[in-house]
Amino acid sequence: MLKLNKSLLLKPPNVKSMMEIGRKIIHLDSIDSTSNYIANMVRTNEIGHGTVILADEQFAGRGQRDSEWSVKPGENLTFSVFIDNVNVAVTDQFVLTQVVSLSLVEILRQFGIEADIKWPNDIFVNRKKIAGVLIENQLKGKLIKNSIIGIGLNVNQTEFDSFIATSIKKEIGAFKNVRDVLYSFIYTFNKVWNKYIIDFHLLSEEYHQNLYLIDAEAQYEDVEGQFTGVIKGVQPSGHLILEKDSTEKYYDLKEIKFIPRNAL
Ligand code: BTN
Repeated sequence: MLKLNKSLLLKPPNVKSMMEIGRKIIHLDSIDSTSNYIANMVRTNEIGHGTVILADEQFAGRGQRDSEWSVKPGENLTFSVFIDNVNVAVTDQFVLTQVVSLSLVEILRQFGIEADIKWPNDIFVNRKKIAGVLIENQLKGKLIKNSIIGIGLNVNQTEFDSFIATSIKKEIGAFKNVRDVLYSFIYTFNKVWNKYIIDFHLLSEEYHQNLYLIDAEAQYEDVEGQFTGVIKGVQPSGHLILEKDSTEKYYDLKEIKFIPRNAL
């Protein structure tokens, strides 16, 4: 059973202004990046809260840590959502990551797939990546003003060349309509978000219950080199709490690297 660090249970951020997503969906054939598309619309004031941009193909898809997100056109779900007036303190910004990660875990469960969340928001099935999330926030003082949530979920692609990945089809052997998977995500995100407003403790608890390698020894690398560490949880700010040499350390995404077993 998860033992939550007290520091994870702070007062709920102000999220009353959050409205549902997905009332408007713009479906594009091809674009550099759905997240760039939203960023441009934000600059020109042409986008409303909750708008979803879906693309069959991205020719310059972006991932975390300045990586690329490149998948076969037409076979996968690649989309971004604009969340306006987030009004969450920067110190609580991890709530959005938690809602997105849990929504992805839940829709995969509906397809009969058991997935884990690899901090902060990679979704893994049996140590293979099935989805990635890129959240980009615009700040106003100490608050998040708006967010662009970019999601890549592997749906029907069955061959991956460069890294260990999987898809819904690879896991269950059945083709899924990409748009239907998007509708499931939208429905689930709105549901998870509403549940969070009622009980934010539950959200954090559920995130931690689905967190890959929590309370388990694994290999990591920080500026001082490789070490064996144990994930103890994630702070509301999103920093990873890792036990290293019997001391709790806090890491930002670019400060820590997980070393998979097969790379040792
Ligand atoms: C990761 O590195 O795991 C995050 C990948 C996020 C990819 C998605 S696909 C839709 C959106 N547009 C992008 O350019 N990136 C995100």
